Amino acid sequence: MTDKELLPLRPIFCLASFFVTLHLVHGDLSYSLSEEMKRGSVIGNVAKDLGLDLRTFVSRQARLDFEGTRKRYCDINLNTGDLITSERMDRESLCDKKPSCVVKVDLVLENPLELHRVSIHVQDVNDNSPKFRENLIAMEIHELADKGNRFSIEEAHDADIGQNAVQRYNLQKNDHFILSVDNNRVELVLDNKLDREKQKEISLLLTALDGGSPQRSGTVVIHVTVLDANDNAPVFSQAVYKANLPENSPLDTIVIKVSATDADEGVNGDVTYDFGHVSDMYVNLFSINPKTGEIKVTGVIDFEESNSFEMRVQGKDGLGLISYAKVIIDVSDVNDNAPVIYLKSLTNPIPENVSPGTEVGIINVQDRDSETNRQVRCSIQQNVPFKLVPSIKNYYSVVSTGQLDRELVSDYNITITATDEGSPPLSSSKTVQLSVADINDNPPVFEEQSYSAYVSENNKPGSTLCSVSARDPDWRQNGTVVYSLLSGEVNGAPVSSYVSVNGDTGVIHAVRSFDYEQFRSFKVHVMARDNGSPPLSSNVTVSVFISDVNDNSPQILYPAPEGNSFMTELVPKAAHGGSLVSKVIAVDADSGQNAWLSYHIVKSTDPGLFTIGVHSGEIRTQRDISESDSMKQNLIVSVKDNGQPSLSATCSMYLLISDNLAEVPELKDISYDEKNSKLTSYLIIALVCVSTFFLTFIIIIMGVRFCRRRKPRLLFDGAVAIPSAYLPPNYADVDGTGTLRSAYNYDAYLTTGSRTSDFKFVSSYNDNTLPADQTLRKSPTDFCRDKKRLMVSLLADRNLTRTIVFFQGRVESANTGLWAPRHHLQY
Ligand SMILES: *[C@@H]1O[C@H](CO)[C@@H](O)[C@H](O)[C@H]1NC(C)=O
Ligand SMILES: *[C@@H]1O[C@H](CO)[C@@H](O)[C@H](O)[C@H]1NC(C)=O
Ligand SMILES: *[C@@H]1O[C@H](CO)[C@@H](O)[C@H](O)[C@H]1NC(C)=O
Repeated sequence: MTDKELLPLRPIFCLASFFVTLHLVHGDLSYSLSEEMKRGSVIGNVAKDLGLDLRTFVSRQARLDFEGTRKRYCDINLNTGDLITSERMDRESLCDKKPSCVVKVDLVLENPLELHRVSIHVQDVNDNSPKFRENLIAMEIHELADKGNRFSIEEAHDADIGQNAVQRYNLQKNDHFILSVDNNRVELVLDNKLDREKQKEISLLLTALDGGSPQRSGTVVIHVTVLDANDNAPVFSQAVYKANLPENSPLDTIVIKVSATDADEGVNGDVTYDFGHVSDMYVNLFSINPKTGEIKVTGVIDFEESNSFEMRVQGKDGLGLISYAKVIIDVSDVNDNAPVIYLKSLTNPIPENVSPGTEVGIINVQDRDSETNRQVRCSIQQNVPFKLVPSIKNYYSVVSTGQLDRELVSDYNITITATDEGSPPLSSSKTVQLSVADINDNPPVFEEQSYSAYVSENNKPGSTLCSVSARDPDWRQNGTVVYSLLSGEVNGAPVSSYVSVNGDTGVIHAVRSFDYEQFRSFKVHVMARDNGSPPLSSNVTVSVFISDVNDNSPQILYPAPEGNSFMTELVPKAAHGGSLVSKVIAVDADSGQNAWLSYHIVKSTDPGLFTIGVHSGEIRTQRDISESDSMKQNLIVSVKDNGQPSLSATCSMYLLISDNLAEVPELKDISYDEKNSKLTSYLIIALVCVSTFFLTFIIIIMGVRFCRRRKPRLLFDGAVAIPSAYLPPNYADVDGTGTLRSAYNYDAYLTTGSRTSDFKFVSSYNDNTLPADQTLRKSPTDFCRDKKRLMVSLLADRNLTRTIVFFQGRVESANTGLWAPRHHLQY
């Protein structure tokens, strides 16, 4: 059978349906044909199936008629009677989705006209794949969509039918969706919640499969865009931001930029920045840009106030989700603080006698900077005797390095400089004023080595002699000089009875009137003492020189002043003119001109007979004595000194021109008229005897001495006409017993014709027995009038080889032995 030939490759169930169809179309021909057969494929042998004679086909003009203007899909092979395809037959375009697709052809035979209906069943072949309308299905699903939500997908289309149509779908495996197909409704079911931030787009491949063999499929990409929800807070890039900022950074310096990202989108992802809680202390120091997150300096950053800042920064998204981060700003030090020097203690003033190395003060140096910026070196630059000794930490001791002397430098300004080790270094300095306290280390020093004062005698008590002055460079009472007299004695009297010194001014005053004749100079010692404790002192010698004033009249020693004189000179009758008959001896207690005496005869019995040497006092005859001359001659001699004004004294000289003392009757008359007491006379006689004896003894001794001198110096130019035998019995006026007291200390110049001294008495001065003031008050007149006065007697022997001078001090005692060794005799 032709069917069997035609369908060897067909599946069995096609073949079965073909047989069923063949039997159903009874009388007509029915064929089954798979679509898409090649042109010329044999569908069936109509001649045979109709039982027609093939030879007649041509003659009967067998042909196929199609209804309408439809394409001729088939043709008939007249030679074989085969129905063949002349055109490819596509079931889908012929019948679309109709379950059965039949092409009806009329077979027309002529002669006789015969019409057979031929039904050609076009069988579906799986030649179409399932197909989605688009290649891409875009979906938008909110990320907060709940689980189980369904999202419809347009189903796939397959032109084939039946089994060849879409049978099932396959969804690519994914985390979120599963596929639900129900009654050809394809839906995506949310199985796991979406998170836009994790996956903002999901692409799913959906495959539609048909049931044909071979199976065909079609795919579509489902693009799911997850829509955002503000489900994310901003997230800072770092939990802690650290920045380093040099102090004193200028305003608007960007310290750091914080940044936070928000996984959300749009407003949900717009982060604005701000500070969280900021301590009041640095609330104005920084600002944050809300948009960019830049933190800037808006105040003065001082390392010394705060060396680090810690603050919270918040990032906030549009809908108010906030997160925080910490910002730590470490401030680095800049050497912007100079060291500061504090004076912690100071011994002020310091005594000048502190030993070198004494701690005077303590300073402390501080620098607010840190590290090397606070390493400080301290020094004293000036040339002062102080140095710094580092002590613990930043403490230094100010220590003296040398001996101080307030008298040289009393104040120091010690400038201490401190320099830190920053770069550039900063330095500061402090001046410490230090005073040096005085120590009484300088004694007063007199301006001169010694002082001399000159004063005329008879000065007024209280007159200024001179002034001494001493300097003491010490301070205040340590340098206050007080003058005082050192105790001592002058002529046996305390020095204070002579002079006094003004303790403050050093002016030396005379306390009493001085007598040149008593002493010509004396020395006092003045001490200058300061008021320190203990005081220091120094001494100086003040020599007081007393100059002479003509305050003493000449004193006539011989002849004795009138009233007490028993002396009468004997002039030999044979005396020639020019013979020395006597001599007026006068002394003057003054000195120099004041003691230069001149002698004048002011009155005489016979003015032409005698003359007197102006300076020698020698009385000489002017002419030979004649018998006519009166036996008794009387001369009044005036003795004047040369002072200004000059003082004078007069005396009477009794001359007896005689060769024999016995011839003089008046002499007996004028013998000592001591008649009042016989006892006194006896006493006197006894004493005179003793004295005479002693004097004789002395004379002998001295005479022996004189003889030994080879060339004795002559005292007088001429002979002194004093009889050696003449020795008045009462030259020494003595009474009582006692010690010889020498009352005066002066040189007695005997006027012997020359101004130079011929005799000099150096009388020792008995300090002990005679109160000085008592003697000093004695005036020369007292001296003369004193009954117990001294007598100087000049005895010259005739040959002028020996001259013996007695000086008798004021004698209170008859013990002449006492005065002898005390009075040195000089020639
Ligand atoms: C120390 O300083 C004071 C005040 O500046 C000044 O009066 C004084 O003369 C100075 N002393 C010295 C020794 O420089
Ligand atoms: C005088 O010196 C003494 C030490 O010798 C001292 O204690 C005293 O303070 C000084 N006086 C004055 C006024 O400086
Ligand atoms: C001054 O003299 C007094 C008394 O003689 C004596 O004690 C003192 O040491 C003397 N002073 C000096 C500095 O010579």
